Amino acid sequence: MRYLTFALAKGRLAKKSMELFEQIGITCKEMEDPATRKLIFVNEELKLRFFLAKAPDVPTYVEYGAADVGIVGKDTILEEGRRMYEVLDLGYGKCRMCVCGPEPARELLKHQELIRVATKYPHIAKEYFYNQKHQTVEIIKLNGSIELAPIVGLSEVIVDIVETGSTLKENGLKVLEEVCPLSARMVVNQVSMKMENERIGKLIGELKSVLCME
Ligand code: PRP
Repeated sequence: MRYLTFALAKGRLAKKSMELFEQIGITCKEMEDPATRKLIFVNEELKLRFFLAKAPDVPTYVEYGAADVGIVGKDTILEEGRRMYEVLDLGYGKCRMCVCGPEPARELLKHQELIRVATKYPHIAKEYFYNQKHQTVEIIKLNGSIELAPIVGLSEVIVDIVETGSTLKENGLKVLEEVCPLSARMVVNQVSMKMENERIGKLIGELKSVLCME
């Protein structure tokens, strides 16, 4: 039997994902060592391999088939636009993609003014403003701490993830519009879905029944 390879987005999602896998009897002892510098972890018994990658790289590994299965946020899936199957909403990592800014920026959004939008998600922002709202905006790509942009005058608004809302609140910003809800998703390589249909189908079924019970 060949290895089934899983790519997990590093960080909070990976931890949650391993907890979920544990509930269906999939464990990976090697991965639990916090000091390890290893990149890939194996469960010999079940012929499974796991690796951690930066979230935006997970869809890349899955599209090319270097990973059969991936677990990653819907934000990353939308932004990367890779060819793969999204098979399951895992229900955790729930948050929202929003247009945020200081309260006065609400007027600028209403009146279709030419505004600047800072974001880590230029494709999502483009799709929202150009194709849904039909508003011409200038999109500025940033890599983190997006909330800074309207505060220092780089942009009028931002498109960013809102989870608890505390980052916005502490910086005097508000949710002005909601783009879409987000959560962790399981994605599968298109060829793997056919070649490993039995194993992947069983995995999806087991995960579904555990998720239903929660
Ligand atoms: C994300 C997001 C917001 C924050 C939202 O940033 O970009 O800044 O979390 O969470 P909250 O609504 O619970 O405050 P992340 O911590 O991933 O880091 P980043 O600034 O590098 O994007």
